[in-house]
Amino acid sequence: MSQDAKKRRVAEAAFDKIRHLLDKNTPIGIGTGSTANCFIDVLAKSKIGILGAVASSKATEDRLRSYGIELLDLNSTGTLCVYIDGADEADSALNLIKGGGAALTREKIIAEASVQFICIADDSKRVDCLGTFPLPVEVIPMARSLVGRAMVKLGGDPEYREGVVTDNGNLILDVHNLFIVDPRGLELAINQIPGVVTCGLFAKRPADILLLAGEHAITELMRDQ
Ligand code: 5RP
Repeated sequence: MSQDAKKRRVAEAAFDKIRHLLDKNTPIGIGTGSTANCFIDVLAKSKIGILGAVASSKATEDRLRSYGIELLDLNSTGTLCVYIDGADEADSALNLIKGGGAALTREKIIAEASVQFICIADDSKRVDCLGTFPLPVEVIPMARSLVGRAMVKLGGDPEYREGVVTDNGNLILDVHNLFIVDPRGLELAINQIPGVVTCGLFAKRPADILLLAGEHAITELMRDQ
């Protein structure tokens, strides 16, 4: 089965899982990327009525708008019952690396604001140890070099993502060669560096459920509470 087919499958599985939560009073959160896009397509095709969605990026806002799905402001919705989003890597504790699509900061905000974070991915994203995928870090432009030097001290090799400006007007450093044995500790350490908006480690607030599409079936992993 192709990776695209797996993404569609896992998006359908996520929709089936949360269908009972969806009604005209329910705001949900929706992330960014090709897997999240598949979920939006499934949601739109279902014609199920929801209040609307908080989107983690302008790209997701555009896709939701194209289907006539209402865009909601997180400042007005309060806590969201569920957030659906993809990931670049996921470990067995459901810690994630996210931000391949440069939307990590808004993704982290929505994850924090949601009762349940369901991460959807094809099985290539499952890893034993995070860090093969370069860790995205969103940085205030004037701090690019400062943060880069700090990332070297932490053992990484930062690479400036040329030509990318985030929806928040900032830059992305992709940090290579981190062997992440303590995802939560590293997340907190990176987020302390002046000029860092946030890093793409989701360990302080990991996913609650990880749905992984394999060749023949969807595997569901739940976080130990
Ligand atoms: C965007 C993200 C995405 O969830 C991540 O990059 C996975 O994308 P895709 O579903 O296209 O593989 O974090 O910032």
